[in-house]
Amino acid sequence: MPDPMYAGLERKKALVTGSGRGLGKACCLALAREGACVAVADLYNAEETAQEIEKLGAKAMAFHANVLKEAEVTGMVDRMVTEWGGIDVLVNNVWGGRPCLVAGRHASRRMGLDDGHQSKRALQLH
Ligand SMILES: NC(=O)c1ccc[n+]([C@@H]2O[C@H](COP(=O)([O-])OP(=O)(O)OC[C@H]3O[C@@H](n4cnc5c(N)ncnc54)[C@H](O)[C@@H]3O)[C@@H](O)[C@H]2O)c1
Repeated sequence: MPDPMYAGLERKKALVTGSGRGLGKACCLALAREGACVAVADLYNAEETAQEIEKLGAKAMAFHANVLKEAEVTGMVDRMVTEWGGIDVLVNNVWGGRPCLVAGRHASRRMGLDDGHQSKRALQLH
């Protein structure tokens, strides 16, 4: 039975920064076990984490990216919106709040949502 803490994550689209190893990777695998589609973003080992997610039967996307660079963050969001239709969960695991803000705002614009509302939602997840 799914853990109630993760209730409702089936087929949700999640982006986890700093997820090539450590806590970010553990978070990706936990999300995947609950049926979420997970995008992995890291300077290193993103592909390896994505392969582990797929072995659990979940969809994965790997980004070899520096999440402190705005263009790289918006590029990830663009691909998730284009290929998966959006982002539901953002885990801003890399130190610093800016990637979360950039990703939240950019996703809102791409998905045609109210920018302020979506950014606040993203920040609350941080
Ligand atoms: N491990 C702990 O006990 C602990 C406790 C409190 C807070 N934290 C915080 O939680 C976060 C994760 O901790 P951890 O122990 O898993 O860290 P970790 O060093 O094991 O993993 C961090 C990952 O983030 C990636 N990364 C770093 N900068 C990046 C960037 N600019 N772009 C993309 N990827 C980047 C690294 O390549 C690495 O794979 C950190 O922010 C850490 O400060 C950890």
